[in-house]
Amino acid sequence: MKIVFSALAAIVIIGLVFFIRSLLFERVASVLPPPPANAPYRDPSLQAEKRIDDLLATMTLDEKIGQMALVEKNSIKNIADVATYGLGGVLSGAGGKPDDNTPQGWKQMVASYSDAAKRSRLGIPVLYGADANHGNGNVPGATIFPHAIGLGAANDPALTEQVARATAEESAAMGIRWNFSPALDLPADIRWGRVYEEFSDDTERAGSLGAAYITGLQDQSVPGGRINVLATAKHYIGVGSMTWGTSMNKDFHLDQGVVPDSEQALRNEYLGPFRAAVNAGAMSVMAGLGYWGSVNISADKYLLTDVLKNELGFKGFVVSDWYGVYEFSANNYASLIASVNAGMDMVMLPYDYKSFVAQMRSAVASNDIKESRIDDAVRRILRAKFAMGLFDEPPGSAPGIETIGSAAHRELARKAVQESLVLLKNTDDLLPIQKNVNHIRVAGSAADNFGRQAGAWTVEWQGIDGNWIPGTTSILSGIRNMVSKETRVEYDINGNFPKSDLADIGIAVVGEKPYAEGWGDNAEPRLDNADLAAIANLKKTCKQVVVVLVTGRPLIITDELPKWDAVVAAWLPGSEGEGVSDALFGATKFTGTLPLPWPRSIKQLPFSFDGKGADGTSPLFPRGYGFR
Ligand code: BGC
Repeated sequence: MKIVFSALAAIVIIGLVFFIRSLLFERVASVLPPPPANAPYRDPSLQAEKRIDDLLATMTLDEKIGQMALVEKNSIKNIADVATYGLGGVLSGAGGKPDDNTPQGWKQMVASYSDAAKRSRLGIPVLYGADANHGNGNVPGATIFPHAIGLGAANDPALTEQVARATAEESAAMGIRWNFSPALDLPADIRWGRVYEEFSDDTERAGSLGAAYITGLQDQSVPGGRINVLATAKHYIGVGSMTWGTSMNKDFHLDQGVVPDSEQALRNEYLGPFRAAVNAGAMSVMAGLGYWGSVNISADKYLLTDVLKNELGFKGFVVSDWYGVYEFSANNYASLIASVNAGMDMVMLPYDYKSFVAQMRSAVASNDIKESRIDDAVRRILRAKFAMGLFDEPPGSAPGIETIGSAAHRELARKAVQESLVLLKNTDDLLPIQKNVNHIRVAGSAADNFGRQAGAWTVEWQGIDGNWIPGTTSILSGIRNMVSKETRVEYDINGNFPKSDLADIGIAVVGEKPYAEGWGDNAEPRLDNADLAAIANLKKTCKQVVVVLVTGRPLIITDELPKWDAVVAAWLPGSEGEGVSDALFGATKFTGTLPLPWPRSIKQLPFSFDGKGADGTSPLFPRGYGFR
């Protein structure tokens, strides 16, 4: 009895101590006076590390914990919390738009968080982040560039850098200075719903394009050499090699699954693009959602600290993915401390930041997390903020919103589309088509559909199927603009045309509905019946048929291929559909090559990095294939 009583008393006393300590922390931060206007951290003439030393010496534990929080904007009910908690970052999760979804609306919304942060005791600027992974797709009217797989097919680092620079301009114009891209995973399995977010399954190609993309986004050519938009190399690491059927999310199959913990694959394949990213100056890396063998990636000290920070020499900060630090254990507190101790510096908090702050306080009070670990995390976050010039920025230095969807950016996007096309088959040199051909028939679900061209991560997380943004050009309108005045162009989505006459050429523009992340995990990616029927119908009323595949990944087409005269992989080209017709009609040449092997059958999945199927057989088309 006595023992039970003493144990209970001890628990109550310990609880009280924690409670009083946590109250004290909160008080101290709110009553401390702000540092003087000439505090060293505010002095732009000092070296960043000196300014960080000064800030760290000034910050309370609460202020440090606040910097480690990256909070989804929809969970912030009171904007004053940005200052009260000294939040390090705020994000728009995919589709996290303002009520007024215009560039001006975004600009005002982001500014409201930045202004709130300035009202905190130390006035540390907040980082505002969003996914702008194929242009600033968050807002209608932005230039939508091809998704990364198209840039991977173009394999042109200079072009990739320009695309990223334009993307940075369009997002910085709305105040978004942090972009959760590029994705540098190496997709080994086309069943994954994120294949199109990646450049290639080849470590060299992904590395060189990823580095170019980071250089373009961060664009340090501006006066003072500050980083324009902070890039995020993601999803560290091995995430393209998850095993089908292992997802920890009950709705998914492969996304958020288990990566076999092969040290050889880590060294020879996965690390390559991240090494290139670190060398290109990446200051933020996002940890993947999923497992490395039996250990959750977000809690793996070997991967996050030993390899990434110590071995690759990464000096920036590691940020977790959506709810990532909490996903692997029912015990939130235990997951959080495991993750922070493994090397997580900033925690993405889609729902509840107040419990994060409370848990972190308790963790430090009970020595579950050492304050030196917190200092290291905050130093890394501040390092990025100083490199971006956020502390020193004169107001109004961002580019104007007229850069969004500008003619110059659309022209660049059109060029990117032209270069991304891969010509897979061309019987009797059917392509290019003569511009003055008499009669063309066009069919297919993606011929006149901006939503399919753009894919997901366009205003909404999962994208929007259909023609819903004015100002974009569909592939059909590109065809119409390209041909001679005399050419007759007919269009029917299902390919139902009179059988009384035969057109010279049928163009079937077919493909996938938009999807994102695990919602796009697909046991057997193929064309759907409606598109197959549209192609079959065209075959009946046209002398020859060209199939244009608008798709986020290779589809299984082995049985159909012999029936098609020419085939072009157009990936997810974005807002400038004319780029496709440019090459179809010979205004530009086909130069793209496959950024990953095109499987013959599902049995070949996943591919090994040497381009062989799981069953040892060769793909339908190897990586690097493409008529030029
Ligand atoms: C994705 C990340 C993305 C994040 C923020 C997550 O669901 O996995 O790639 O950056 O959401 O939107």
